[in-house]
Amino acid sequence: MNVHIEKAQAILRANDKGGYTVPTARLYPFQWNWDSAFVAMGWQTFDEPAAWREVESLLEGQWDDGMLPHIVFHTASDQYFPGPDVWGTHHAPPTSGITQPPVLASAVARLIAKAHDKDLAEAKAAAIYPRLLANHRWWSRARDPHQTGLVAVLHPWETGMDNSPAWDTAFARVPTQTTTVVKRRDTSHVDAGHRPHDIDYQRFIHLVDCYREAGWDPARMWKAAPFKVADVSINAILARAEADLLGLAVSYGTAAEQAEIAQRAAQMKQAIATLWQPKLGLFGSHDLIADAPIEVATSAGFLPLYADAADAAQVASMGATLDRWRAQVRVLVPSTPPESPVFEPLRYWRGPVWAVVNWMIADGFARAGDAVRAQQILAATRSAIEQAGFGENFDPLSGVAGGGGTFSWTAAIYLLLT
Ligand code: GLC
Repeated sequence: MNVHIEKAQAILRANDKGGYTVPTARLYPFQWNWDSAFVAMGWQTFDEPAAWREVESLLEGQWDDGMLPHIVFHTASDQYFPGPDVWGTHHAPPTSGITQPPVLASAVARLIAKAHDKDLAEAKAAAIYPRLLANHRWWSRARDPHQTGLVAVLHPWETGMDNSPAWDTAFARVPTQTTTVVKRRDTSHVDAGHRPHDIDYQRFIHLVDCYREAGWDPARMWKAAPFKVADVSINAILARAEADLLGLAVSYGTAAEQAEIAQRAAQMKQAIATLWQPKLGLFGSHDLIADAPIEVATSAGFLPLYADAADAAQVASMGATLDRWRAQVRVLVPSTPPESPVFEPLRYWRGPVWAVVNWMIADGFARAGDAVRAQQILAATRSAIEQAGFGENFDPLSGVAGGGGTFSWTAAIYLLLT
């Protein structure tokens, strides 16, 4: 076996805390929502029961209204801020009160499609399907109350791309005062230069305070939200997840549920089309408070490919955009391209390459019939990991690893690539 596969498997085993996998030791000592979806797919390549356990333990955090929290605090740890006391959500097990990109239904569909143990997969999927349906209904009800076809995020952490420059203008409107005392722990674990700034944390926590004061009630949060964005990435991921959930509904759901999911999936795809930005040669997010398109190029802008939501001309235009970015970097796909005035090669979502995003973009190009670009992205991801290790992300210019080390989702993606 290739030594990197052995290392990737060892990372998942080491980060397994007994049924759930932490993203990395110390920096992220709990279970994270979209990390776990990717990690479950990685587990399946060598330990199928562990893959299903990962999904089930994430669902232990699901709320009665269907919301799937971004963090499940299975055990206490003083290594992370903000912990359960700051969120104050009163769920058992304790959770955060916001969500993250809904990759889970797509991960479960893949676990079923690739299952070796078909009986196990059948039994698990039948029990999990209603939970996924409840989650997608929550997105539609809580985050698209006016039924526009686009769901909104109320906190940059929900996008999974915490400090993306796409949020700069919308996020600058968020006040910096907090009722919670901000005691960052992240910068004692990794280089502060790879992390968001202190002022970003003031705003992140202002939003947590605001929603906690709204009792984590979706309607009150929607009204109170000083940050409300139709993120292109979340919408593409959810549109794809709806299509994958429809496949599950054929086996485990009713005809009425199939019709409901198909209707949402179709409406989302149409709405995503409105996010096309010809000047960028990419899709982009929409700031719902300013009612303005966010004209900032980031790797999220390729993700409608992953939802089959781009037409042929858009696919060609995104191909040209990718080629232009490739000429500027050593490793594709930078989260923000070097040509951007706000590019920072190692600061989190403002430049670094993320393996999970690459995997979805490559899948999208492949689905659109562009196998060449799909392969370029996959090969770049594989060689970045082989050369620099299983970092949280990679500097697109030098290829060095950034953020935390021995990272679970980077290991999981490597396992999916080999
Ligand atoms: C950071 C990332 C987010 C990820 C989490 C755990 O907050 O921005 O996408 O889920 O770390 O890895």
